[in-house]
Amino acid sequence: SRDLAEKLPLRGKTILITAGPTYEAIDPVRFIGNHSSGKMGFALAEEAAALGAGVVLVSGPTHLDTKNAGVRLIRVTSAREMYEAVHEHFEEADVVIAAAAVADYKPRVVAAQKMKKKDAVLNIELEPTQDILASLGEAKKNQKLIGFALETNDELKNAKAKLKRKNLDFIVLNSMNEAGAGFKKDTNKISIVSPTGVKDFELKPKSEVAKDILNEVILLFNE
Ligand code: CTP
Ligand code: CA
Repeated sequence: SRDLAEKLPLRGKTILITAGPTYEAIDPVRFIGNHSSGKMGFALAEEAAALGAGVVLVSGPTHLDTKNAGVRLIRVTSAREMYEAVHEHFEEADVVIAAAAVADYKPRVVAAQKMKKKDAVLNIELEPTQDILASLGEAKKNQKLIGFALETNDELKNAKAKLKRKNLDFIVLNSMNEAGAGFKKDTNKISIVSPTGVKDFELKPKSEVAKDILNEVILLFNE
């Protein structure tokens, strides 16, 4: 009914969300990672489910959990595992929101045994991970693709370049320069950059930021 469509505007839609960091193994006890908490991705999952969507949440290592029956949580560790889980669910998805802070590099070889400190200098050879979102941009059919960009300089220019390069519908620019925004924090200040323009939002709780982002997703379907 019309009433239901207003209350649950994402009913019947499947939203695939990535969250958290990835850990790239160096040896059996060490990894390369980052400070992403997963909060933004988990907030998006909760809000999308509240709006009626079926949610597949692919998350890197985080202490966060969800009890939401509308959210299917798939836990992964590395960029490679995240890539595989995401591609497994891409066909069924109507929307993908890539909120994960995927490691850009991984050790070229993973040591089978714990590395010892006997050497004065340790060099770990790194190679790039796969760009998950860019690979979806290439494979995309009717899916709406949303990315995040974390920039410290030339923010808008860099975000616009990523929007284009990854074939996205819009990109969420995270301000690093704002106190109270970013990794580990409960608040965020974003701009939504689309091919047609830029919308700036106030600093607010991540749950509210998630609502703003999903509202923009709903607008994409009404275009
Ligand atoms: N992303 C991804 N897979 C990667 C790297 C990034 O899916 N291997 C996604 C992120 O989830 C985010 C977007 O791409 O939605 C942009 O990530 P970001 O780190 O800002 O951009 P990069 O393309 O990695 O470029 P750089 O870090 O050099 O700025
Ligand atoms: Ca990156």
